[in-house]
Amino acid sequence: MSDHDAILSVENASCHFDVSASWLQRVASRAPRRLLKAVEDVSFTVRRGTTFSIVGESGCGKSTLARMIVGLQSPTSGSIRFGDICRADGKVEMPRLQMIFQDPFASLNPRWRVGDIVAEPIRELKLRATEAETLTRVSELLVTVGLSAQDATRYPHEFSGGQRQRISIARALATEADVMVCDEPTSALDVSVQAQILNLMVRLQKQFNLTYVLISHNLSVVRHMSDQLAIMYLGRIVEIGDAEEIFKSPSHPYTRLLIDTIPQVDAPNRAREPMSGEVPSPISPPTGCTFHPRCQIAVPSCAVDRPELLTVGGRLVACPHVRP
Ligand SMILES: Nc1ncnc2c1ncn2[C@@H]1O[C@H](COP(=O)(O)OP(=O)(O)O)[C@@H](O)[C@H]1O
Ligand SMILES: [Mg+2]
Repeated sequence: MSDHDAILSVENASCHFDVSASWLQRVASRAPRRLLKAVEDVSFTVRRGTTFSIVGESGCGKSTLARMIVGLQSPTSGSIRFGDICRADGKVEMPRLQMIFQDPFASLNPRWRVGDIVAEPIRELKLRATEAETLTRVSELLVTVGLSAQDATRYPHEFSGGQRQRISIARALATEADVMVCDEPTSALDVSVQAQILNLMVRLQKQFNLTYVLISHNLSVVRHMSDQLAIMYLGRIVEIGDAEEIFKSPSHPYTRLLIDTIPQVDAPNRAREPMSGEVPSPISPPTGCTFHPRCQIAVPSCAVDRPELLTVGGRLVACPHVRP
């Protein structure tokens, strides 16, 4: 991959939260300072026009990573860099980013009509010269996401969850975003509606050459639209590489665990391990490999040595005990 293609590079990014009791309480009870390592030394590159998916159970640091990418949270260390975008008018600039949230109701102002919700970034960024052009653009965008131009006069509560997510997407498109960071975009929706929203996202990606960072706790959500895939466990990436390859032959025991919990349409009789155990608290994570208490192939040294990401068959895997 040439650097020319990279629209986003996350380099050794960490995010630690100080979750200590107050200074006075700490001194009184002689408690040490406590750091919660929500994201720890995460690196990856995303190419323009592709989908980079991040999957892991709740509490693994996915939302914190998303917030760092869009600038809502500063990394404690490491960096987030962006590739230049050449606009049609010759201007070279940083990519525009938008975040799509899990709960479209919480992210849409309930007192605003849908037309104003979608028009706001167009007015704010002065993307259209006149109000008439802005309104035309809003109608176009609503139709693009599968709503109708007449929906502009209605309020968010008049729509279903899936339609509200379409409104959020129309608003993100209104900003002429290059990169959309989608944090559990379909987790609040029924399974059939989930598929419709994911299909819409795939269509829009092709149409507008969008780049997606797609976050989910559910591997089956990202399965059919990911180019690259990173699996996170307790703040760290444990496996990262070509999504199709990882689905075909998952390497890390945690990736295997996640894949085993997906119903297999093609191999319904395959023996499956039940999802065992829970994610430990990131305030006092297990020693060594943080996955070792849940791991089927753990050996005593796993409780001592923290595994580095090693190249295994064209991808990176943080487990020295898996074979290519
Ligand atoms: N602002 C914060 N202050 C303290 N802890 C936080 C904060 N934000 C997130 N965390 C903690 O960081 C860890 C990762 O959270 P999050 O990034 O939301 O994970 P995910 O999105 O994978 O569920 C969790 O243990 C969470 O409680
Ligand atoms: Mg989250």
